[in-house]
Amino acid sequence: MSTVFETALKGKHIVIVGGSSGMGKATAKMATALGAKITIASRSAAKLHAAADEIGGGVQIAQVDTTDETGVRSWAGVLGPVDHLVISASSAAHGAFADLPTDDLRAMFEAKFIGPYLAAREVLPVLVKGGSITFFSGVLSRRPSAGATGLSAVNAAVEALAKGLALELSGRARVNCISPGMVATEAYAAMSEEAREGMYAQVGGSLPVGRVGEAEDIAQAVIMAMTNRFLTGSVLDVDGGHLVRD
Ligand SMILES: NC(=O)c1ccc[n+]([C@@H]2O[C@H](COP(=O)([O-])OP(=O)(O)OC[C@H]3O[C@@H](n4cnc5c(N)ncnc54)[C@H](OP(=O)(O)O)[C@@H]3O)[C@@H](O)[C@H]2O)c1
Repeated sequence: MSTVFETALKGKHIVIVGGSSGMGKATAKMATALGAKITIASRSAAKLHAAADEIGGGVQIAQVDTTDETGVRSWAGVLGPVDHLVISASSAAHGAFADLPTDDLRAMFEAKFIGPYLAAREVLPVLVKGGSITFFSGVLSRRPSAGATGLSAVNAAVEALAKGLALELSGRARVNCISPGMVATEAYAAMSEEAREGMYAQVGGSLPVGRVGEAEDIAQAVIMAMTNRFLTGSVLDVDGGHLVRD
């Protein structure tokens, strides 16, 4: 299999917005091993440098905040040709419907929807014909949970964006969306280890696969989304069976 992916990705320029952490970083590592040229982008220079050291392979870094429209435009303008764009950058806000502060709700839509929208729009002029864009939503879009109504809604918005854009870019580029279930990444670093491991055990135990995801599980799906030339307008549920569990 890796030969198929190597053939498809060797020498290709893949830009991963959110590539300094979690699933984006795992995708960067996997694609580097397949011979792709990688650019990772995110806000923190320290995270970018640490990730670049970990990924190796001459990965390029770019300090970009997707919510800064002018900054995104300037960065995209000097990127050069891009074969595949992956956008895993986001931040999430949890809170009950009545209690979630409006500013937190707006900030989440900025980071998880508007930011990826702007990144895709500004990189599009340099996306090569036949390239792809891969967005990230999350299982809550279709399995909402109490206390995460806003997060559920923003995930659904990202999926609609991917499907609509797949139509707009017909014949030019493919557009898909990865919808992960719970995946053990740096996104949960602020929790205590005990709380985090307890959450992983509880959620993992409820899933048909019996565990939460690893970043590499999702990276495999991103590689598939980038390389499968018959895949567009799709939402790939990589969730350990979360959508079909009780
Ligand atoms: N982990 C899960 O359980 C889970 C479940 C369902 C869906 N998802 C979704 O899957 C995607 C990847 O999640 P993950 O767990 O891999 O996340 P993560 O480890 O927290 O990584 C997020 C990345 O996005 C960057 N980022 C955040 N805001 C940004 C901004 N405004 N501009 C540019 N870069 C920004 C971060 O770096 P900087 O801090 O340097 O900017 C980091 O590189 C996200 O869309 C997330 O919502 C995750």
